[in-house]
Amino acid sequence: MDVLINLFVALHIIGIAALLGGFLTQMKAMSAGTARFGPAMLHGALTMLITGMVLVGLNQADGHTLNNIKIGVKLAVLIVILGIVYVRRDEESAPKPLFGAVGGLTVANILIATLWT
Ligand code: HEM
Repeated sequence: MDVLINLFVALHIIGIAALLGGFLTQMKAMSAGTARFGPAMLHGALTMLITGMVLVGLNQADGHTLNNIKIGVKLAVLIVILGIVYVRRDEESAPKPLFGAVGGLTVANILIATLWT
């Protein structure tokens, strides 16, 4: 079971890499107002949601106690991110404040995941 949990943590990290990478690689475009919510960001956010839910199930099945408040906060922030990225996925360009907000929320979720012990 531990191998399976670690595998899903790895997939969880790949998801955040796609989401954050999609943001970071477009920071220059964001300044010019031409950044867009590309497929990497959408698929990264979806990967986070699916692998996160699987991780909750696997940890519970294995008898590990999880910090449910922390996971609930991560889930709430991710749903906001996913909602924005999904609704705006077909637009040619995203407004600078909205694109910046998604990047900020993504970094906030990473800090919640790593600093909230
Ligand atoms: C952008 C959003 C998210 C980020 C940046 C994130 C980040 C992380 C990181 C870095 C880890 C490994 C470190 C650790 O074990 O604490 C982790 C583990 C985990 N995440 Fe996430 N996560 C996000 C969303 C979610 C969501 C939406 C869920 C649940 C629905 C979730 C559930 C879990 C679980 C169950 C674990 C492993 C158990 C634990 O140690 O807490 N995550 N996450």
